[in-house]
Amino acid sequence: MIKGNGPLKGEIEISGAKNAALPIMTASLLASGEHTIEGVPGLRDVRTMGRLLSNMGLKVAIENNLARIDSLSVTNFEAPYELVKTMRASVLVLCPLVARFGRARVSLPGGCAIGERPINLHLMGLEKMGAKIELESGYVIAKADRLRGASIYFDTPTVTGTENLMMAAALAKGTTILENAAGEPEVIDLANCLISMGARITGAGERVIVIQGVDELRPAENYRIIPDRIEAGTFMTIAGITGGDLTLIGCRPDHMDALMMKLKDCGLVFEQTGKGLRVSSSQRLIAKDIKTMPYPGFPTDMQAQFMSLMSTAEGTGVITETIFENRFMHVAELRRMGADIHIEGGTATVKGVERLKGAHIMATDLRASASLVVAALAADGESTIHRIYHLDRGYEMMDEKLRKVGALIERSSEET
Ligand code: EPU
Repeated sequence: MIKGNGPLKGEIEISGAKNAALPIMTASLLASGEHTIEGVPGLRDVRTMGRLLSNMGLKVAIENNLARIDSLSVTNFEAPYELVKTMRASVLVLCPLVARFGRARVSLPGGCAIGERPINLHLMGLEKMGAKIELESGYVIAKADRLRGASIYFDTPTVTGTENLMMAAALAKGTTILENAAGEPEVIDLANCLISMGARITGAGERVIVIQGVDELRPAENYRIIPDRIEAGTFMTIAGITGGDLTLIGCRPDHMDALMMKLKDCGLVFEQTGKGLRVSSSQRLIAKDIKTMPYPGFPTDMQAQFMSLMSTAEGTGVITETIFENRFMHVAELRRMGADIHIEGGTATVKGVERLKGAHIMATDLRASASLVVAALAADGESTIHRIYHLDRGYEMMDEKLRKVGALIERSSEET
């Protein structure tokens, strides 16, 4: 329950990146021994990944953002449907399992709220590296004696596909070349962690990544996850929509160029201070257009929050989603709050209104739920956001962080 109450002011610490923590946790399958990973955010998805790895026989303990993962004994090479259906990133165990143990049985993720999201490119790459792949009762069964290096071209850059195949290649025999690879900061973070484990990788962050396979890797030792650029971006839109003044501690502006340039065009002001990145806004924002693109383009994971921001900006903003075919589920909810949004295909046209009004609204996926929080913080009256478990998948203590900067936000459980 959120009561819109004007500008939010104060300091917010940015947590470790969910989408870096998840692949780095699965990288622990690649080397026997105790891995220590720092800055792991306390999130539902991270706990789900912990459960998945425990299911395989690893010992996982996560406390105070430090993950200790002991992969000495791996006894089960399966990612079951029950876990994959709650978190698609479970598919990131596929390549590490085949690379180190020669086999994996991983449930095929189905479609999800934001789109069909196939994993054909992960499978194409693994097959090129010599794995035999069969589909049986909704499961991918992959086997290989030892993977071998290959040249792999991605028809479209895929973040988890690039990560999965980078992990396969790290232990393969020979050299792998990944072309048209994803260059997101989270891909670079995984590469840096693998390099710290002894992998030989060059070009992460560029379109072509070259990996020379090695026979063995060592455990990651106190590897620190990068800060979450999407969490930081979400708080930037909150500063913008409430006319607030927030200092984000520990974020990496160099990972957020496209978003920050757009937000500056809209009228937000950024200032690097000794403490962190200060983001403020004191007047009604100006509507701007965006189009989601793979990194370094505007991130699809910020599209929904940006749309909330545009819903009260002056003028009309055109938002084009090019990554996922169904990522406008928040639109119907924002309209219930009085937003003026028209969708045609992958484009939403947002005419800014003076004020939004509080309402009962429903979260449908992680970033959609974040966009509803953004909107509710600036709406007149009270909003009740249902199904906030989506939010807890990817935002560490969001309600607490917001309360500290003055938001009127309460959490309560609801009868189902
Ligand atoms: N695609 C294919 N075939 C594949 C893989 C992807 O056609 O084998 C397509 C997808 O359907 C999509 C495009 O390629 O149209 C890009 O998808 P990508 O594979 O990059 O997405 P992902 O790896 O499944 C990650 C993040 C998402 C984020 C996207 C895009 C993780 C765990 N997830 O997903 O994060 O939206 O990249 O940046 O890293 C979120 O955090 O809320 C979230 C959804």
